[in-house]
Amino acid sequence: MESRYKSYHSIEKLPELVGETVTINGWVHNITGKGKLQFIQMRDGSGFVQCVVFKGNVSEEVFEQCKQLAQEASVSITGTVRAEERSATGVEVDVQSVRIWQIPTEQYPITPKEHGIEFLMEHRHLWLRSTRQHAIMRIRAAVAKAIRDFFDGNGFKLQDSPILTPNACEGTSTLFETKYFDLGNAYLSQSGQLYAEATAMALGKVYTFGPTFRAEKSKTKRHLTEFWMVEPEMAYFDLNDDMDLAEDLVEYIVQYCLQTCQRELAVMGRDISKLEKVRRPFHRMSYTEAVEWLNANNVKLNKKNEDGTETQYDFPWGEDFGAPQEEAIMSQFEKPCIIHRYPTEVKAFYMKRDPENEKVVMAMDMLAPEGAGEIIGGSQREDNHDLLLERILHEQLPQEAFQWYLDLRKYGSVPHSGFGLGLERTVKWISGAEHIREVIPFPRMIYRIVP
Ligand code: 4AD
Ligand code: MG
Repeated sequence: MESRYKSYHSIEKLPELVGETVTINGWVHNITGKGKLQFIQMRDGSGFVQCVVFKGNVSEEVFEQCKQLAQEASVSITGTVRAEERSATGVEVDVQSVRIWQIPTEQYPITPKEHGIEFLMEHRHLWLRSTRQHAIMRIRAAVAKAIRDFFDGNGFKLQDSPILTPNACEGTSTLFETKYFDLGNAYLSQSGQLYAEATAMALGKVYTFGPTFRAEKSKTKRHLTEFWMVEPEMAYFDLNDDMDLAEDLVEYIVQYCLQTCQRELAVMGRDISKLEKVRRPFHRMSYTEAVEWLNANNVKLNKKNEDGTETQYDFPWGEDFGAPQEEAIMSQFEKPCIIHRYPTEVKAFYMKRDPENEKVVMAMDMLAPEGAGEIIGGSQREDNHDLLLERILHEQLPQEAFQWYLDLRKYGSVPHSGFGLGLERTVKWISGAEHIREVIPFPRMIYRIVP
């Protein structure tokens, strides 16, 4: 039997079907009418199209039915696709028949007028239907697909890391804790990396791609408590290989979005010329060079005194960069910039110390332009058992819980590297969305868990 869904047409495919009779399943985005004409703005998730109901073309009954339609009514419309120069998609549909699934039982709460952000967030389950949100979600899907295509096409194997874990990966201050039967406490994973290191030793080149959790106290436009991260991990890769791979990946994602999301980027009013410049090679500088640049350019560090006044300091070597430093550094660039070799003290325990300078680790962060900030954090990993143990003890981490991780340094340890790219940070940058809460279907933040 011919499957039912195959006879349906998605709106995005209509320009290829001019002259044909189609059935589209969707929702009424807007409806206007005058006299013998009704204009139904339809959306089906793939796009928007205007459907024109002319009284002379349909039965009296169908015309009357259409008059009852309201925003978000669910309908299937059958009609003929007609080329229409004035339409953004180049087509309209001349309606022949309409099947109404539901007329909203109450007035739809989100209207074309302006709504406050709190109202929209409370109605996130409905807000996702709006034009901009819909465009962002399609860009998000494209970024995720580009990521998978890139890794699958380059010899990587997808290996999922667990979400319930017995220990911290990225520092204990942002851990979500939960009870785990008789085994004590478990923590929601902050990163799939440690497990990816194990699977990389089994499969060579792997990537893990899933949700990660940070009990972040930060209320910024760039922080979520639940976000998606893709983490490649590669045996026999050093820091340079790692940075090369990160550049290849980001170039691929941006170019893929430029090719496949033109309509969505236009809805967002995104300046495409900025994205077109995202081509390898990106900029690179060491942390030490970045500090020298900040001080040479008079970018001071503001610190509050006890009496409430502020003093400006030269940026001290050894301190981590915050948003003001990152923004200042990026103001000179149109392409992403990788900053590498950060001070050991500000980075995670698993990073390998630079054999040429004990004070820094073989870490790298990729900062994106246009104020987007850090999108990637990565490093070469400590592959020496004793040095790694020393770092675990120094950080006062529970040695027991890391025994399996230390084992990887006992049985055929090799240089290896990896990084994590935040999906939402990347989508925010590419789409040009205002705030990170708009780039994940249901954002989780300190002050929001509903809907
Ligand atoms: O720099 P991070 O903390 O690195 C790691 O977790 C490593 N274990 C990754 C690895 O080497 N496999 O996080 C990586 C990226 C950041 O660059 C950022 O894009 C994103 O994850 N990220 C967040 N995104 C949204 N909200 C937050 N609270 C985020 N914290 C990190
Ligand atoms: Mg980081």
